[in-house]
Amino acid sequence: MRMRRISIGLVGLVLAGSVASAQSLAPKDWDANVRLATAVDRNPDPHILEIDLTARVAEVEITPGKRVKAWTYDGGLPGPLIRATVGDRVIVHFVNQLPQPTTVHWHGIRVPIEMDGVPGISQPEVKLGESFTYDFIVRDAGLFWYHPHVMSAAQVGFGLYGPLLVDDPNDGVNVADETTLVLSDIGFNKSGELDNPNSGGIAGMFFGREGEYLLVNGKNRPVLKARAGAPQRWRIVNTAKSRFFYLDLEGQKFHVIGSDGGLQERPVSTDLLLITPGERMDVIVTPTGKPGSTLVLRAMLYNRGYGSVEYRMVEDVLSVELTKEPAVTNVKLPNVTREIAAPSAAGATPLTLTLTLNALEDLSSEFRVNGAPFWEAKPYTAKIGETQMWIVKNESEWDHPFHLHGFFFLVLDDKGEPVRPLAWKDTVNIEMKTTMRLLVKFDERPGEWMFHCHILDHADGGLMGTVLVGDVKPSTHVHTKGR
Ligand code: C2O
Ligand code: CU
Repeated sequence: MRMRRISIGLVGLVLAGSVASAQSLAPKDWDANVRLATAVDRNPDPHILEIDLTARVAEVEITPGKRVKAWTYDGGLPGPLIRATVGDRVIVHFVNQLPQPTTVHWHGIRVPIEMDGVPGISQPEVKLGESFTYDFIVRDAGLFWYHPHVMSAAQVGFGLYGPLLVDDPNDGVNVADETTLVLSDIGFNKSGELDNPNSGGIAGMFFGREGEYLLVNGKNRPVLKARAGAPQRWRIVNTAKSRFFYLDLEGQKFHVIGSDGGLQERPVSTDLLLITPGERMDVIVTPTGKPGSTLVLRAMLYNRGYGSVEYRMVEDVLSVELTKEPAVTNVKLPNVTREIAAPSAAGATPLTLTLTLNALEDLSSEFRVNGAPFWEAKPYTAKIGETQMWIVKNESEWDHPFHLHGFFFLVLDDKGEPVRPLAWKDTVNIEMKTTMRLLVKFDERPGEWMFHCHILDHADGGLMGTVLVGDVKPSTHVHTKGR
């Protein structure tokens, strides 16, 4: 069941006096500083991508001279770019060489439940020296990512994440200069070791720990080159365990053409781009300015709860160096559109999820969904093919980027109508003290699927749950605290 996407507009047309952007306009090696290692396909079948992926500790250099032992996939930070074409079969021979058990979760991919990477629910933990083979079809084009689902806050914070890009060669975007940008952060203590994942105790848990170094493809403040006026397509994912990226490119427009589940109904332009943990954005940027000058992409302050704007500063994320070549003018941006069939909200089964932060007698706190932290929660249920309206009420003083495994949803407005332009999401920020309605149609894949806050300290602090889709038994595993 591949979703249909139709592109119309000026795609690929060369108009009098203008340049088609399908040809590269960027300077040579424009993205060399952020280029990702790509997973090597060892299967000759063009429709099967078969790779090896090993989790291991490795030394990485995040800025010249600053080296650290991180937890990595295949020795890199981030892990290799896994690049497939929509409809391909992806086989990943995963080996764990870490001192802790782990799994791989394929964030946003509509995998069968056996491939979802959740220990105790969909597979056993992969212990040191053990392996597991993931095998699934990538049904949807878009940028996805992979990360562990064991001690997630710690393991993701240590460096375990990587991008999975599913191309649609006929997506009609026709911007030749395309790059994938993995945004994250990492922190060290005074002796240069990775920050303790429990630093700051309970306050660290409810704030959501951030690392002090901002990273783009594993590098602190890297450089992209551009020719003024020439469009670039940036596929961005925020893999940080807690940090929100609220991006500003010196006031220049981000032309947003898609998000989590691929292209959206039509583009929107914005000069500030919010990407919360787990989310993806597909944007076209057309840097303008005096040839030879430099633009800085900055992370602006965003209030996601106490401590996120207080005593904080705007930070540089990357710089865009404009070459001395004369600016390109008259590049027509393609009008990238997609027909999205919204499930009907009328008759959708409502499910209310109230998110709270509760103080405990021992002076600690836990997050709860409808009064229960994850380790006491009962699963919710859905039928195969059922459409549900999830009414997510955030009663806490913290924002929560809410993520559902395995299925996309549409965000509804206050009247219960899908927000336009329509965009498939699997992660959406529920601002503090607000309610958001999400419309989700469960397809033919039964299983026990997770939902949780993607501030992974919040997830580990209780803000997780599961939904049983179809006629399946709830897992008998014990929901341990801190998992
Ligand atoms: Cu990126 Cu359980 O999710
Ligand atoms: Cu949260």
